[in-house]
Amino acid sequence: MQYGHFDDSNREYVIETPETPLPWINYLGSESYFGLISNTAGGYSFYKDARLRRLTRYRYNNAPLDSGGRYIYLRDNNASDSARTWSPSWMPTRTPLDFYECRHGMGYTSIRSKLNGIESQTRYFVPMGENLEIWELTLTNQRDEAADLSVFSAIEFNLWDAMDDATNFQRNYSIGQVEVVDGVLYHKTEYRERRDHFAYFACSEKLTGFDTQRDDFLGAYRGWDSPKVVETGQSADSITHGWQPIGSHHVKVQLKAGEQKKIIFILGYHENPKDAKFDPPESQTINKHTVLPVISKYLKADEVEKAFQVLRVHWDNLLEKFQVTTPDVHTNRMVNIWNAYQTMITFNMSRSASYFESGIGRGMGFRDSAQDLLGFVHLIPERARERILDIAATQLETGGAYHQYQPLTKRGNNDVGSGFNDDPLWLVLAVTAYVKETGDFGILSEPVTYDNKPGSEEALYGHLQRSIQYTLDRLGPHELPLIGRADWNDCLNLNCFSDTPGQSFQTTTNKDGKVAESIFIAGLFVLAAKEMADLVESYKLKVSGLTFNVQPSTFYLEAANKMESTIWAAGWDGEWFRRAYDDFSHVLGSKENDEGKIFIEPQGICVMAGLGVEDGRAEKAMNSVDEHLATPHGIVLQQPAFSKYYLHLGEISSYPPGYKENAGIFCHTNPWVMISEAKIGRGDKAHDYYSRINPSAREGIGELHRCEPYVYAQMIAGKDAATYGEAKNSWLTGTAAWNYVAITQWILGIRPTYDGLQVAPVVPSAWEMFEVARSFRGVRYVVRVERKGSGNNVQLAVDGKSISGNIIPLPAENVKEVQVRVTIN
Ligand code: GLC
Ligand code: GLC
Repeated sequence: MQYGHFDDSNREYVIETPETPLPWINYLGSESYFGLISNTAGGYSFYKDARLRRLTRYRYNNAPLDSGGRYIYLRDNNASDSARTWSPSWMPTRTPLDFYECRHGMGYTSIRSKLNGIESQTRYFVPMGENLEIWELTLTNQRDEAADLSVFSAIEFNLWDAMDDATNFQRNYSIGQVEVVDGVLYHKTEYRERRDHFAYFACSEKLTGFDTQRDDFLGAYRGWDSPKVVETGQSADSITHGWQPIGSHHVKVQLKAGEQKKIIFILGYHENPKDAKFDPPESQTINKHTVLPVISKYLKADEVEKAFQVLRVHWDNLLEKFQVTTPDVHTNRMVNIWNAYQTMITFNMSRSASYFESGIGRGMGFRDSAQDLLGFVHLIPERARERILDIAATQLETGGAYHQYQPLTKRGNNDVGSGFNDDPLWLVLAVTAYVKETGDFGILSEPVTYDNKPGSEEALYGHLQRSIQYTLDRLGPHELPLIGRADWNDCLNLNCFSDTPGQSFQTTTNKDGKVAESIFIAGLFVLAAKEMADLVESYKLKVSGLTFNVQPSTFYLEAANKMESTIWAAGWDGEWFRRAYDDFSHVLGSKENDEGKIFIEPQGICVMAGLGVEDGRAEKAMNSVDEHLATPHGIVLQQPAFSKYYLHLGEISSYPPGYKENAGIFCHTNPWVMISEAKIGRGDKAHDYYSRINPSAREGIGELHRCEPYVYAQMIAGKDAATYGEAKNSWLTGTAAWNYVAITQWILGIRPTYDGLQVAPVVPSAWEMFEVARSFRGVRYVVRVERKGSGNNVQLAVDGKSISGNIIPLPAENVKEVQVRVTIN
């Protein structure tokens, strides 16, 4: 069953019913001001940090699930009874509508509905460069007679620190404060003391009334579905003193038959200089000199339209950087629109705020951020550069890494600490991806601190060397890398041995960590060490007079080779790669095991690192994946699932079989197999796996999949689960970046290299042709690929001239566009 459809030409997903299985959401804002918005206008807003600067209140895990948002109520002042009041976004009143449609687009959401001849459309977005959101409501009277309507807006302010707001009621019920001046509702809790920021909620129309105190608006014992003020049509003009500050405007609208009217609401965040907070200075009244011009600008319909067009152009320009036309519609729309969009959202949000991440939890992950970068580096290379430098500055002198850092302070998070032994290696992949994309070798000599300590600066290049050395310094009994607290799989906690409820599996360590080893890290090491060898070679060619010590490429190659031999000796099980050795030095991910005989991660990472590609063992590993792990809904993480809790394995065995890391389809790992399949030349298989978890391709099974069909979810329940095929944790997942890499770089085969753009497609045999337009280092490459034979060999003609090899040489400086013809034989 489908709940909507894609409108690809407008880059929108159109939801046709408010009753989607879960709230299907979108994000507003891409700079400092952000919001989450569901298809029924639920969600919340914040400035920069979802925990510390939360503008509006949202209660997670509520009933109904999606309560609280950017609500508008309409009241038909002439109607006698039924449907006298309703929500044009359906929630929260849930009044049945005659028509409903929600369009989620790039950075905006528009909800249109009709009831009894009154059409309303609300477009929500954040203008570029501003710290505010606009709700532009257009009302149309489609009746044959005049309509007398009341419009009520409603939001609930959060007292800034979302964690404190949800817990510290003995204080918070006394501190809420507002100001209401000229129809603008200002939320200024704590402004009188240490805050220099406030929120405001303004409306383009003359108000009939307003409310700022929740109980006065709703009425005691009522919820957002039946506010007393909306029911009676009488605002209370309430002023908050403590309790729950809200914002609600009341506007009366008379519409002749056929008449249309726009009403604009803006919700914003504003800061004043510390010494100019009040006006007059000795008062406690907000100084509004700098905020008023912003408010009056965006209450004008033409300014709103202009800002909306700027937003559209912004996204068009971003997405134009990579556009593809293939025979597969799901590939096209994910690559051209939604997958790229999702990678940008993971750049903005990391893992902080979604409908599954509460915005008060995790900081930015070291490994998560490094991997996310692989998906957006070509879209926003300058910001990728900053991100790399921020991440690297939290690295430790040992080469290790804080597992997370805090976005506001950009410092390592001591609560979680370090010791996730894969973390530093991801930095190598991020930096090399960035340099290949941009050719900016200069980043390698940027001085970067360790643990943010001034005086500890070393060239970024040195950080990479230490990342590699970190693994070499921590080898176990089989000469394989020690796993530490966990490797990529946060739940494979081999040194934890936790038997106490409530302990964090990630930070509890009861073993000395000198025994348990990870074959996944070994594979990742080979991949990263080979990247380092390539980088060193290219770097030496590009830069002369290096002022710091660079290990020769042979150092990295030898280290990679040695690790490869170790993997073949201790990490190969005959048909597939093993997963780990536990604290007793017993193997995991082997025929010898009863449960957890085979895991996906080492198959993907080892083959990506090139292991066994030449001698058929990679193919064997991939065939084992197909046989033991692949399902129609994607590839599960391991088999057989763990049926009980194993003290020595940790969180992985804490999940019921089929969910999350215990044999769920953990989508992040699937693209590693797609890439591996492409590496061994099996385009049909690679694209088949791609399609199994492609959300667009799953649109038709919406009642099973349940999450949004336009973005990836972290997990789809595996075959051992009761709800096999059900997705969870949409939006903020490394799945976004890796699927993007798999399809664009390995299946379509358009890969940035140090020397130019490479074209090495491994596509389905039925594809006769496809086209790509891609910007790369300031040049637009228009690549047209045609299949002439059934293999994967390519012949390139660049601007009409045949070249040898598959890397398009960088053109002369003034060339802005290059035409490439490719035949696959
Ligand atoms: C979560 C974490 C990620 C980890 C993965 C597997 O997605 O954010 O860092 O690799 O789970 O456990
Ligand atoms: C849980 C999740 C895992 C996530 C981790 C983050 O263990 O299962 O996916 O990476 O929490 O701390």
